[in-house]
Amino acid sequence: MNETGKTSLRTCMVGTLRIEHVGSAQKVVGWVHRRRNLGGLYFLDLRDRTGLLQLSFGPEWTDAASLELVREIGPETVIAAEGKVERRPDPNPELATGAVEVRVSTLRILNTAVMPAIPVYLSPEEELPSEDLRLRHRMLDLRRPELQRTLELRHRIVLEARNYMSGQGFLEIETPILTKPTPEGARDYLVPSRVHPGEFYALPQSPQLYKQILMIAGFDRYFQIARCFRDEDLRADRQPEFTQIDVEASFVTPEDIFGWMEGLTASLGGVAGIEARPPYPRMSWRDAMDRYGSDRPDLRWDLEIRDWTGALAGAESPILRAATQGGGRIRGLLLEGGAKLSRKEIEAVEAQAKAAGAPGLLWLKSGSEGLSGPMARFVSESAAQSMGLKSGDLALAAAGSDKVTSPALSAARAAVIAALGIPKAREQAWLWVLDFPLFEENGGRLNAGHHPFVLPHPEDAGMVESDPARARGLAYDLVYNGAELGSGSIRIHDAALQERIFGLLGIGADEMEVKFGHLLRALRAGAPPHGGIALGVDRLVKMFTDAPSLRDVVAFPKTTAARALFEGAPTPVRTVDLAELGLRLLEE
Ligand code: AMO
Repeated sequence: MNETGKTSLRTCMVGTLRIEHVGSAQKVVGWVHRRRNLGGLYFLDLRDRTGLLQLSFGPEWTDAASLELVREIGPETVIAAEGKVERRPDPNPELATGAVEVRVSTLRILNTAVMPAIPVYLSPEEELPSEDLRLRHRMLDLRRPELQRTLELRHRIVLEARNYMSGQGFLEIETPILTKPTPEGARDYLVPSRVHPGEFYALPQSPQLYKQILMIAGFDRYFQIARCFRDEDLRADRQPEFTQIDVEASFVTPEDIFGWMEGLTASLGGVAGIEARPPYPRMSWRDAMDRYGSDRPDLRWDLEIRDWTGALAGAESPILRAATQGGGRIRGLLLEGGAKLSRKEIEAVEAQAKAAGAPGLLWLKSGSEGLSGPMARFVSESAAQSMGLKSGDLALAAAGSDKVTSPALSAARAAVIAALGIPKAREQAWLWVLDFPLFEENGGRLNAGHHPFVLPHPEDAGMVESDPARARGLAYDLVYNGAELGSGSIRIHDAALQERIFGLLGIGADEMEVKFGHLLRALRAGAPPHGGIALGVDRLVKMFTDAPSLRDVVAFPKTTAARALFEGAPTPVRTVDLAELGLRLLEE
């Protein structure tokens, strides 16, 4: 948009008029936000995406037909008004245009609006209608200034990403939407082929294989603002379709990727007013799980998990003994001044740990009357001392295998930080988490830790077959304030190694050929060492705007039930239309 937004129908955008425009004649257009009647004078607040402007109507400066119109005008009517900018007798310091008003000589109605189903609110304090109702009437909801600002910021972020990546020599190359399944750990959205009945395209879960093939083709540096589609259980930080800043480069190590992504996020932060001061700290996955119980720790707070297995080795507790027998540990959080939490408040923290899969939390308070809480029975004063507990402190502990206790302690950490109002150590916390496990073990089967194309860590290359569960990959995540913003890895560029990894994942020769024959052939065609990353645009904008949900940063989002409420999707399809695709629904 040019500076003023001038078009054939208007001289300027509503929110741009200031005291220096007093005396000028203007044509303005927009939506009627509010109307007031003060003894024969009428005032309209006119709205467009730049803000509000007061229009005033009175018999001395408005023609009779226009006065007639304004008397009946309803909210959200689209109007065009001509008049002179005047100093407002009652300036409104809350409005950017509050020093002036347009005294309207003529008013035209460009379109009427039925009574809006939901009000268009301006202030964040006003209570919003339910989200379902807002999504159903998204054209009204999107008129809210927060959403307008967020989508404008999103535009500027994507624009900056394109400029930055292009400036670093990356080419934006589009990859197909109708494609073949690319494993990223979710189910595929399938699209039936009409010309090949019984055959299906998959919508891409990511452009992963295409970007690798572009490296093999010699493009050297690729990026794409890429749409991805995943049929998975939705949460506040997931949408079934979302956007990535997808990146791949040849002849690189993780250092090269970190450098570009630190530069990129610092410049995107600049657009959003978010501080990002690279280089970002780094932590191994193992360390992150050990110290914070999470692979995306929120390092705005320093609180760390402690290992009390040694301190509590002598405790006479069957629960602890059972939990530690199979190699489990007793770990927990030591909260200075935490003894002030009531039993009820501690139970609320425990509920979070239970929701994350732990059977429960044990706790111990040290107060003026000595130790109290469920652990007091079996923890001696000296054991409490070696745990680090001082008077006024609270210990929250979980015992068992790290697989169970880590998520529980991570959830307890967040809950207790909130319950105690622990102040942040820093406002922004960027972090690289490195060296993720190559595989996840699930009931004796191996699954890819991330996707099957991650290069084994050079130090662990020898244990890929002998001890796969301990082998690390050259994989990394970018974490910001406790959210995973991006994820990437150095890839396997050797076809034989790729085949071995597929084999370990239980993919036989036939399946390998059907699913990944194109990749293996490409890898044999002279594949350079390469690697990359993808940052989630939706998550980035959500985090940068502090929005409660991804639905607040997407123009037309899906609900947690994967429905598009505005347009009403998905919809049933007629039997004849299915038949044309060679499909029939299963009988109920
Ligand atoms: P991954 O699956 O980790 O990696 O995705 C990368 C980033 O995309 C975002 N993201 C999502 N955002 C919204 N809704 C979702 N359902 C969703 N799923 C993922 C996250 C995440 O960090 N091909 C690899 C990247 C690579 O290895 O280069 C990939 O897609 O911010």
